[in-house]
Amino acid sequence: MILYFTATGNSLYAAKQLDTELVSIPQELNRSDRRYKADAIGIVCPLFELDMPPVVRTFIRDSQFETDYFYIILTYGCHHGGVAQRVQADLQAMGKPADYINTVLMLDNALPVFDMDAQRQLEPEKQVDAHLAALRADIDARKRAVQPASDWEKEFYAGYRHMIEEQGPYYVQPLYRVTGDCIGCGTCTRVCPMGCISLRDGRPEYQTDRCVGCMACIHACPQKAVQFASLHEVNPNARYRNPHIPLAELIRANRQP
Ligand SMILES: Cc1cc2nc3c(=O)[nH]c(=O)nc-3n(C[C@H](O)[C@H](O)[C@H](O)COP(=O)(O)O)c2cc1C
Repeated sequence: MILYFTATGNSLYAAKQLDTELVSIPQELNRSDRRYKADAIGIVCPLFELDMPPVVRTFIRDSQFETDYFYIILTYGCHHGGVAQRVQADLQAMGKPADYINTVLMLDNALPVFDMDAQRQLEPEKQVDAHLAALRADIDARKRAVQPASDWEKEFYAGYRHMIEEQGPYYVQPLYRVTGDCIGCGTCTRVCPMGCISLRDGRPEYQTDRCVGCMACIHACPQKAVQFASLHEVNPNARYRNPHIPLAELIRANRQP
């Protein structure tokens, strides 16, 4: 069984290569008594700011897992900053250490930092499918390992932490604004994993206290009418969804019941 969180489909695509029993974390969040039982249980999610997304961390903390093999896979696009070691320390403190933690390099969907068109050009050299196959082999063999942090990734993480301490958080709410190009189609309301967007008089309205900044809405808008409220974008005309995940599948994964 895999419990997954995804904004643009990378983590869902990765999860599909690793198991067939997939459960959407956002759709489980409203259940009060969360218990999962399977031979192997995996969590697959994107990396946010060199860490596990807080919503996924809270989900793990407040859920019960009955399994012989608990593993975590984080999809990322550029630098993982040695996240596996930090996640394991956190899980150990929760009394839920993982048997296996690894990362997989995919396309980076962080619009303030990257041009999605340029990112697409880089995708072939990332050899995503080969890496996913290697992870699958590890998991099938019930390998016990936590990805080590190289000195370079540790330095990158330290530099990032220093920047945040000096300058404050990078992503601040409200993260998004909606331009006059909006046609009121409601795609943003359906792809939002947190159910924090609703249409009012044909216009999206955000409940920003629930927004986790995953960028699903901005990437999925067919009009490119969802934009950053204050952050500069490298290429406002380029958006991304994992090419193997149709919009309808992303909506099925994220739509709130
Ligand atoms: C808010 C945010 C922060 C991110 N931070 C990082 C990061 O620190 N390092 C990195 O390599 N990629 C980062 N990314 C890129 C995603 O982790 C990556 O594209 C991931 O595969 C997206 O998965 P998804 O399509 O399942 O949402 C970030 C993306 C978002 C939206």
